[in-house]
Amino acid sequence: MDFPSVEPYKIKMVEAMHPSTREERERWIKEAKYNLFSLGSDKVFIDLLTDSGTGAMSDKQWSQIMLGDESYAGASSYYHLKDAIKDIMGFEYFLPTHQGRAAENVLFSALVKEGHIIPGNSQFDTTKGHIEFRKAHAIDCTIDEAFDTALIHPFKGNADLNKLEEVIKKHDANIPFIIITITNNTAGGQPVSMQNLKDVRKLADKYHKLVVFDSARFAENAYFIKTREEGYKNKSIREIVREMYSYADIATMSAKKDGIVNIGGFIGMKSKEIFTKATTFNIMFEGFITYGGMAGRDMNALAQGLYESTDFDYLTARIGQVKYLGDKLREYGVPLQEPSGGHAIFVDALKFFSHIPQSEYIAQLLGIEIYIEGGIRGAEIGTLLADRDPETRQDRYPKLELLRLAIPRRVYTNNHIEYVAVALKNVFDRRKEIKKGLKITYEAPIMRHFTVEMERL
Ligand code: F0G
Repeated sequence: MDFPSVEPYKIKMVEAMHPSTREERERWIKEAKYNLFSLGSDKVFIDLLTDSGTGAMSDKQWSQIMLGDESYAGASSYYHLKDAIKDIMGFEYFLPTHQGRAAENVLFSALVKEGHIIPGNSQFDTTKGHIEFRKAHAIDCTIDEAFDTALIHPFKGNADLNKLEEVIKKHDANIPFIIITITNNTAGGQPVSMQNLKDVRKLADKYHKLVVFDSARFAENAYFIKTREEGYKNKSIREIVREMYSYADIATMSAKKDGIVNIGGFIGMKSKEIFTKATTFNIMFEGFITYGGMAGRDMNALAQGLYESTDFDYLTARIGQVKYLGDKLREYGVPLQEPSGGHAIFVDALKFFSHIPQSEYIAQLLGIEIYIEGGIRGAEIGTLLADRDPETRQDRYPKLELLRLAIPRRVYTNNHIEYVAVALKNVFDRRKEIKKGLKITYEAPIMRHFTVEMERL
C-alpha cells in the first residue's frame, strides 16, 4: 500500500481556538453590520479570511528572529534577505517594504502616471487600487476559461495573449509594463504556466515593455508547473522558480503569503535604473534602503521562509490540504472554481444561490451564512470587492461571484478542514430556505469591502 503524503513537520506549540454558539454568532454578525472584517477574531472559530500573514513560522524562523540585526543602515539581516532573494529568484536589486501593497505603492510611484494602462491577468484589489488611485487603468486579460468555474483547465490563471496584444496595440504609448499575478488570486488561486510566462515575455519584448510579476504565491505557482506542465516533472521547485523569474524584469512581493511570515514584502529588480528611481519613494514611504518597512528580525525570518516555501514536500502537503477541502465539497455537491487552487477554495455563489440576484451580494451572503453555521470566516471575492466603476460610480458585476476560503499555511489540521466542509454542506442543503440577500447602508469611496456596512433585505 502507498503511504499518504504527510506534512513534513510536526507541531511544537499550540494556540487555543474560540468556540461559540449559533445564537451568539447571529448577534455578533448583526452587530458587525454583516461585515466579516468587523468581527473580533475571538468571535471566529476557523479563520479562512486570508492566507496572508496568518501562517505558522517554523522553529528555524523563530530562531532567526532572535538573530535579527536592528541596525538602521547596513544590517546583516538586510544582506541575509538580499542573498536569499538573489539565490531563489535571481534579482540583483531589492527593496524591503512593510507588505505587498507597499511594494506596489513604491514601484508604481516610480512607473505609473495618469492615463496609463496596465494590462495583465486579474490584478489583485490593492494592485488595482494603486493603479486607479493614480488615475490609470488596470485591464484584466485573463483567459476566458477562468470564468467558467466548472471547466477543468490546468492553468486557469494564464493571461490571454491575444487580449494582451490587442490592449498593447491600442494603447502602446501609455503602457509602462505588463503585470502577471502568480498565482492568479482573483481567478481562484489558479496558476500561470511557464509557457504563458515565456509568451508574455516574448510579447513584452516585441513592444519594448517591462514585465512585473506580482509574486505573492510564486512558490505555489511553481508547484503547479512541476506537477502539471509537460517537461517540469524532474525539475526542482527552485529550478522552476529561477526559470519563472528569468522572464520578469521586476517582482512585487507580499511576503505574508509564500514568505510564510506575518508581515513583510519587497520589490525585486534587475535594472539598476529602476532600483534607483524606486529608492527615493521607498525612503519616503517605507524607510531607509536596508530595512524598508521591516524590522531586521522579520527580514531574517523571511529569508528562511523563502527557502521553506520552495520545498517540494512542504508544497505537496500545503496544496494537498487545499485539494482535500475541494474534494470534500465536490462530494457534497457544493459548486466550486475547478480545479481547486493553490491557497484557497472558491465557492461559486452564482450557482450556490442561483435563486437570488447577484445585486444582493450573494457571495457575501454565503460568507454570513457559513459564519452563522460554524463560526467560519471566509472572504467575498465578488460584487463588493469589484467596487464601483471610478467614472460611472455604478456597481461593477464581476463575471465570477465567489466566496474564498483561504487556508493559512501550516496552521489547521485536516480535522478542521472536515469541520469546514460539513458547515458548507449544511448551508448548501438548506440554501433554498434562504430567500434574500443583503443591501449596503454605508460604503467608502475606494476599497469599500473592508469597511462596508450592510443589512439583510
Ligand atoms: N498581490 C496579491 C496577489 C495579493 O493576494 C495581495 C494580498 C497583495 C498583492 C497585497 O499584499 O496584503 O501584503 O499588502 N492579498 C491578501 C489576500 C490580502 O487576502 O489575498 P499585502
